[in-house]
Order: sequence, then C-alpha cells, then structure tokens
Amino acid sequence: MIQCWRLDDARQTLVLGVRDNHLAEAIYWGPRLPDDENLETLYGAHEIDVTGGMLDVNPELSICPEATRTFPGQPGMVVRDEMGKSVLPTFSFDGVEQSETALTLNFADAENGLTYRAHFAIDPQTHLITLWAELEGTRALNLHWLSAPVLPAPQLSDEMIDFAGRWCGEFQINRTPWSAGIRTRENRTGRTGHEHFPGLIVPCRGATNTQGEAYGFHYGWSGGHKMVAEELPDGRRQIQFGNATQVEDEARTLFKTAPLYVTYSNSGLNGCAVAFQRHVRDRLITWPHPERPRPVHYNCWEAIYFDHNLPELKEIATIAAGLGAERFVLDDGWFGERDDDTSSLADWEVDPRKYPDGLTPLIDHVRGLGMVFGIWFEPEMINPDSNIYRAHPEWALGREEQILGRNQLVLNMALPEVRDFLFERIGKILADHDIDYVKWDHNRVLPTPDADQTRGTYALLNRLRTAFPDVEIESCASGGGRTDFGILEHTQRVWLSDSNDALERLKIQHNAALFLPQCVTGSHVGPRVCHTSGRVLDIRFRAWVAAQRHMGFEMDPRELTDEEADVLRRVTAWWKANRDWMYHADILRLDAADPAVVAEQHLHEDQFVVFAGKADTSDQISPRPLRFTGLDPDAMYRVDLVNRDEIARVALSRGRSMLKTGAMEVSGRYLMHHGVTLPWSFPETMWVIEGHKI
Ligand code: DGJ
Repeated sequence: MIQCWRLDDARQTLVLGVRDNHLAEAIYWGPRLPDDENLETLYGAHEIDVTGGMLDVNPELSICPEATRTFPGQPGMVVRDEMGKSVLPTFSFDGVEQSETALTLNFADAENGLTYRAHFAIDPQTHLITLWAELEGTRALNLHWLSAPVLPAPQLSDEMIDFAGRWCGEFQINRTPWSAGIRTRENRTGRTGHEHFPGLIVPCRGATNTQGEAYGFHYGWSGGHKMVAEELPDGRRQIQFGNATQVEDEARTLFKTAPLYVTYSNSGLNGCAVAFQRHVRDRLITWPHPERPRPVHYNCWEAIYFDHNLPELKEIATIAAGLGAERFVLDDGWFGERDDDTSSLADWEVDPRKYPDGLTPLIDHVRGLGMVFGIWFEPEMINPDSNIYRAHPEWALGREEQILGRNQLVLNMALPEVRDFLFERIGKILADHDIDYVKWDHNRVLPTPDADQTRGTYALLNRLRTAFPDVEIESCASGGGRTDFGILEHTQRVWLSDSNDALERLKIQHNAALFLPQCVTGSHVGPRVCHTSGRVLDIRFRAWVAAQRHMGFEMDPRELTDEEADVLRRVTAWWKANRDWMYHADILRLDAADPAVVAEQHLHEDQFVVFAGKADTSDQISPRPLRFTGLDPDAMYRVDLVNRDEIARVALSRGRSMLKTGAMEVSGRYLMHHGVTLPWSFPETMWVIEGHKI
C-alpha cells in the first residue's frame, strides 16, 4: 500500500510517500507540481531499477535510513540502550497530522519501544521548509546520532558548496565535486565556529548566482553540527544534518534535532539566499523595537581595547555622534580588574578603578548626545584569575587539567546555579542602567562538545529577554564564531567577523548573504591601518563596505582627518536616508564577468542599489559590463552613480562612459542582459549605483 502527502508553496513541492508502512521517503522535491499530479504514480515512477550485483529490491532512501533494511549508506540514527547495546530500529507507519502548511509523520518500533516523529512545515511567503525529528523511547537511550529528516540531493548536480573559515576569515566557499562516497562535515568545537558554518548549497549543473536551480540547507543550531552528503553505489544521494555526534552526555527518553531549513530555488543561488534572508528577518528575529530604524553603531573596541578612561570615552562618543552614530557600545574591559585578557571574566561588576562613579556618567553623556548605550558581556566564560572562579572552581566545564583558550575556561551552562548567577549579575547591570543593547561574546571553543551547553545558553538568553524585553542582543564569538539561525532566534545581530579590513569584509559579507539579511549583519568602518591585516584602506572604501550591511564605526574617531570625517559623515547620511527600504531589500549576488569585482544588488520592489566592489586589479584593461538581476525586463529604470564625486580621484579614467556625467534611463532587459559599463577604477574602491523604476 502506498500513501503520499505533499507540501507546496508557489515555487516548490515536496512529496513524501510511505510504502507498506515503512519509513517515508521524500520522493520528489523541486518546482511546484500541478495540483492534479497523481502522487501514487510518482511513488512508482521514482523507484530505480534493479540489476546484477544489487539486492532484489532497493532499500528506501528514507527520511531516516535504517540499517535493518540493508540500507547501503549512512543510517539516520545511531542509538544504544543503557547497557551500551546497539538498538537497530525498524519503524512502521503510525499516523499523520497534516494542515495546509505542515505535516507530521509518526512511526513506531514496538519491539524496541521507540517512536520517531518527522516534522515538516512550509512557509509560503519565505519559501523555507523547516524539518526536525524527534526520537522517543519507553526506556532511556544513549544517542550517538540523529539526523533531521533526510532529503535527497539532485542528480543533475556536479558539486556542492559548503563553508570553511577562520578567525577574521569567515564564510569561505568550498566547492566539492560529487563522487561516490561521503563528504562529512563535523564540527566538534561545541559552538557554531568560524570554521564550520552549518550550511550547504547544492547547485544543479550550470547554476550561478542569478540563474539555474539550486537547493539550500541550513541547520539552526549553535552547538556544532554534522553534515553527511553521500552518494550511494546506486547513484542516489542523501543529505543528513544533525547535532554533532556524541554530544548527549546522558541517557534520555526524548531527543530532538534542531530545525533544518531548506529551500528549492529556480533562480540560482540567489533564490536560496533570498529565502534564507527573508526567513531570518521576517520569521526568526524578534525585534524589541520593530518600529525603530536600525541605529548606526559605534563600538569602542579597536579604539581603546582595555584602556578605559572616562574623559577619553566621552570625547570619542562626542565625535562618533557627530559622525552620525546612534548607539555607543562599550566593549570588553569595564568590569572586574580586566586590564587585559588574562583575568576577571565572570566578575560582572563595574570596575571602580576605571569608573569610580559607576557607568552612569558615561551613559548619561552618551544619552545626552542622542545615542543609546550598549555593553559587552562574555557570559559563558570564566578566567581562572577571577573572584568567581576562586569561589566556584566547580562551575567550570571540563577537567581541571585542560588547555585554556584566551586564558579562559568555559562555565557549565547546564548547571542551574550557573545560569541563576549569570541572570542575577547581568540582570543587575541591565536593571541599574539605561542599557539598550548587549554584545554577547564567546571567545573560545568548548573543552568537549556538549548539547546541554547550548541548551543552557538558549535558556539563559530566553530568561534575560523575558526580563529585559527592550534590550537587543548581538551574537559574537571572536567575530563570526556563533552565526546561525539557532542563535538568531534569541538575538538580533551577528558580529560577522573581527576583520574590519574592508577588503576582507567585502568578501565575507558577500558570501554570508547566501544566508543572512542586511539588517542582522554588523559591518563597521575600521581604522585607517587595519588592526588585523595591516592593510591601509581609503575611507571611501571602508565606509561603503560598512554601508552594505548594518552600519557602524569601530576606529578611534580622533584619527580621522577632516576630509575622512566628511566622507564618513556623508556615507552615513546616505545610509540613514536609505536604511528603511534597504531593511526590506533582498541581497542578490551578481554574476560579475570580471572576477576582480565583487558585486551585489539590494532590491526592494521598484528600487535598488548596486555595490560593485573592486577587490583586485582586473586582467583586462577596461571594466566589463556588470549585469543586474531581478528587474522587470520591460520597464525603464533610471540608473545613477551615487558616488560620482569619487570620479575626480581616478585620473586614469579618461573615457566617456555615460554614468560619469549623469544618470541614464534604460530598460530592465538591457540592465540584465548587457549590463552597466562602469568607469575604470582602482582596486579597493567601490562604485555605488542607484536605480528606480520609472
Ligand atoms: C572578540 C570580539 O570579536 C571583539 O569584537 C571584542 O569584543 C573582543 N572579543 C573583546 O574581548
């Protein structure tokens, strides 16, 4: 007997089918099918043939492949009983709950006393499908591995795209050709990590940023994930995502995966990117002040580091406000006796040596300048050199003998007394001061990965947010080490990287846009000489790169020349004038013909802006036209260069290209199929082009 169900939105259909009460299979996932498609026929049609050297019937590539059905690849769960004996389930269909946009399939294994539930929910507006799995036992079980419901990967795909990275170099794209066998990514650091963003894009052959088919995956969990992309000997491909293996310390009767977010796109990688961006912005994030425009940040870290001095901070705040900043963030160094990174984490009380009258004089000054005030914490960490560690060494996670990271240990967030302590200390700072914002840092990996740690952190975040609903929170972990949709359900911004080098940032944020919208992605104008690369970059480039995302400044503003300050003021004013519609815009990565150009188009309804960053010198002597995307081909657009003033600086641009002297009116078709010929430019510069439908 065959039973099938479908979930649809306007652009995709996912069909699940059960035969003979076995575990379900995703038998189709792709463009929206006709309403009257016969799903039972599809079930029969999707089955692959049997020839010599195969089993007599092909085991299903089910939503949780079972070893007991002779599945020739990685199983969807690995479980042992409390005695350590393998539990090898064989599930049977046990009912379904379905609404128009959601489906839960229930399966039972009576012999082993197990229940497996697979959940699927489609969002017709954002086009994301959310999947998660639950495993319940009548007796306690030890979980080694549980995948979110497994989906097939397309056959007409030659490669997969996943992400590597490092401190100051997040979101590096890996392209790996498909071949027989497994590509595994497993993050055992206990946090999302710079190195292991939990995402995957499987483009079909020929797909680019702007066209073709692609499948996107993101696992929304901050404790480290495992991904399995496997091609079976029979050619079928499966994608599994779940928590890293062996992260459940205790035997339990109920386990749940985090949500796996997936989408099918018929508009290139951008179709996936837009679905992810919109889902984060419109579904996951909860804003304390939804009506308030995203405020321009000033963060003092790279200006003063640990050297806090009230008159200087006031001076810096005054200059930052004059440049256009609207939020002042006091970074590390305000508490305990924190004069460097060797001490005081967990001693969350204001340092009376640096702030004899507390933080209020600084906060009043900041508020008097019209800015709101934010403050840094690193709640999950403790220095051995701290009063709290001396009082509670047992609060630290892991063995006494262990390698420190940035001179610190991790607090055991599974302990209620640790969470109570943090709630009380952080809560006191928030309750006693006029604080609008917390930067929540996490600067080392865990001694060993542990899912309870992540659950404990989420619980503390929930409790603080309930008690202080007006406070926004930024997720930071030495830059982008905790960037994922799990943390974004509890926070409102990510500090994408500690690299304030605009050239590096241009690329990092361009790749991160495959998943992240503009409004949550922090980007700051750094010092003239970049502190993490030594590179010297012009203020125009630094300012425009920051203006691509949630804009902020992080240099010591006293270093700015009058001319630099003037440029920064103007670009910030441009950002403020445009931030309302840019909040709603999709970031579309452009297919630049010139690999030296990193270009993206922020598009909302009839308005767009293109940022064309010149990351390198070009091979050819003249700029190649840059094709835009997502426009109405038959409409006319008025296109203009926002930063025309910068042309005067490029003496080597001698030609007549039209945008140099004024706006032009051309069709969407021309913009998308010929593209705009930009003026010649130096590397490490940016052209900014605005467009409006006429
Ligand atoms: C790492 C962060 O990424 C930086 O921005 C800064 O907050 C430091 N920690 C402070 O210690």
